[in-house]
Amino acid sequence: MLIDNFNRTHDYLRISLTDACNFRCLYCMPSEQMKFMPAKQLMQVDEIETIARIFVDLGVKKIRLTGGEPLVRKDAKDIIEKICLLPVELTLTTNCVLVDEFIQVFKKAGIESVNVSLDTLIPEKFNKLTKRNLFEKVWSNIQLLIEEGFHVKVNMVVMKGVNDNEILDFIEWTKNQHVHVRFIEFMPFDKNQWNSSKVFSYQEILNLVETQYNFIKIKDKPNATAKKYKPLNHRGTFAVISTMSAPFCHNCNRMRLTADGKMKNCLFSKGEADILTALRNREDIVPIIKKCIGQKEKALGGQFDSDFHNIDINKIDNRSMIRIGG
Ligand code: 5AD
Ligand code: SF4
Repeated sequence: MLIDNFNRTHDYLRISLTDACNFRCLYCMPSEQMKFMPAKQLMQVDEIETIARIFVDLGVKKIRLTGGEPLVRKDAKDIIEKICLLPVELTLTTNCVLVDEFIQVFKKAGIESVNVSLDTLIPEKFNKLTKRNLFEKVWSNIQLLIEEGFHVKVNMVVMKGVNDNEILDFIEWTKNQHVHVRFIEFMPFDKNQWNSSKVFSYQEILNLVETQYNFIKIKDKPNATAKKYKPLNHRGTFAVISTMSAPFCHNCNRMRLTADGKMKNCLFSKGEADILTALRNREDIVPIIKKCIGQKEKALGGQFDSDFHNIDINKIDNRSMIRIGG
């Protein structure tokens, strides 16, 4: 078992398959000219499988595949087919553009739940945010996932002045469809133009929703990052991921592997452990994993204090989101 110095058991691994993406969301990717990692720097299929298996032996029970956009990787299907053989719950986070090509792959792999990133329901705004004209494709693929019986969670990164005026529209969506909307507080990463005044907080979200809907708190899973609510008489639910205003680090169970095979013990950790190079050098990676977990900070990678208004983005030492892997 991977237990850190704060007695947190780590049984959830998020594996980034690539830092490439078919979108260009500003809050995630530092610039249009971003250089993606060269292919040979990425973990290969057998390396991902070997590393994942070692994490499973160390107690991992859930694996999420992320990116960039995981499905742009040419061998995404092979990776899913290999990882699904491990005794874990397998899920993924996608921007949904390529999902129609993967429905059968997901089903065969036993994937039941898919997280989709979607920050607006307005096609023109979508084009501006992602720099790609693919709203209709994403929308129809979300509908396809729901029709095919997947549990669909839609992640909306709320940015003040950008899309906070759509929160109620996302809630309205949950009325007639079995969809689970999750509002994520905007987080600071390398060159993503974050500042505290762009954060639309958990409390602000609840206050806004309260003006129009009756809703109740529903029970969250242990280790959940999202605080879940159910609007009365709606088929779906909504939740808030309050990383900035009310962090949930005390019961964190997650670890990350970047596409180039570096382990990060937190989204905001400065340090990384180079698992892939060690594996390629035929070293035992178990002590490296354990050491990395032993170095995990109590909260937020040790990088910010509890009031997000005091954060100076220039003092944060981290990768951009796309190179970490959502
Ligand atoms: N703040 C909050 N969420 C972010 N994501 C990407 N960048 C940020 C950010 N700066 C989200 C994506 C995706 C999830 C994995 O992380 O929208 O849904
Ligand atoms: Fe791609 Fe998701 Fe990043 Fe947008 S947020 S650029 S869809 S990885």
